[in-house]
Amino acid sequence: MSTVSLKDVYKDYFKIGAAVNNRCLDNDKQLILKHFSSVTCEYEMKFAGLRRRDLTFDFANADKIYNFAIENGIEVRGHNFVWHQGIYPDVFEDLSKQRLLQLLQEQMKTAGERYSKISSWDVLNEAISDDWNGWLRDTVWLRKLGDDYFMTVYRMARRLLPDKKLVYNDFNEYEAPKRKNMIKLVNLLKAEGLIDAIGMQCHINIKTCTADALKRAFEDFSKLGLPIHVTEIDVGLPEMDDPTPLSQMSAEQIEKQATLYQQLFAIMREYSEIIESATLWGVRDDQSWLNNFHFKRDCTALLFDKNGDPTEAFYRITQF
Ligand code: GLA
Repeated sequence: MSTVSLKDVYKDYFKIGAAVNNRCLDNDKQLILKHFSSVTCEYEMKFAGLRRRDLTFDFANADKIYNFAIENGIEVRGHNFVWHQGIYPDVFEDLSKQRLLQLLQEQMKTAGERYSKISSWDVLNEAISDDWNGWLRDTVWLRKLGDDYFMTVYRMARRLLPDKKLVYNDFNEYEAPKRKNMIKLVNLLKAEGLIDAIGMQCHINIKTCTADALKRAFEDFSKLGLPIHVTEIDVGLPEMDDPTPLSQMSAEQIEKQATLYQQLFAIMREYSEIIESATLWGVRDDQSWLNNFHFKRDCTALLFDKNGDPTEAFYRITQF
């Protein structure tokens, strides 16, 4: 079915991105070329995406995506240097603080130089605790590098990658208490000139998220005077603890999902002066991480269904 091109429809607003992996690079090449002006490696540039278990580098998977994108004039977002997942936790536990810092330094320098056309990196991902009354997530990075490790890693990134945009990326940003902690962290980094953009992941769903909550999130972040990258959009259907299989969506669910997509993109267009990119976390539904999350059920949360056909949400966000 012939459709408009997403990236063309949004060319006066912001880049349209997708998380890709090597499988979807093979299966969805035409969709990527037609609709997306930016890509993020779904896994391949994470710490363990770039290294084997013995910590030696293996660039093959990341190179394939990077080269495809650059050859086709598509921007690549760097994702990510420091996260509690995408590492080898047991290997990390045995490292000294000094060795971990050395590895991180090597990671930033090597990836920064090898993927030289990447202009923005998510330096730290999801550092805020899931206990919103708390502060930082308890991770191996924090335990090894200390309570102010977030300052350490951004100082390192600024020194090693002086010409890159340094981003802080996190989820549930539409929930006020979580956002408060994100803003606190961003302000601490900002005070030392260590951050250049905020990454709002935007993994949302029709049960817990509303257009009002999204609007407040964009409004609050816009006050920080930094550009925004919307980094991991998907609009899921049930709450995480609802075991209903999702392969058959009701008309009401489809409508709610399409409406929330439509509202999100309308809000993003309003803030387009400060939004640099809006990235979907996957190209089509069969790629979505949600299929493997929690109840392991078929999920539909993206703009293309598992056959690669546009969903109702696709039409809603391209007609305005
Ligand atoms: C987080 C990470 C992403 C991706 C998703 C889904 O949001 O930032 O890289 O792994 O989880 O798994």
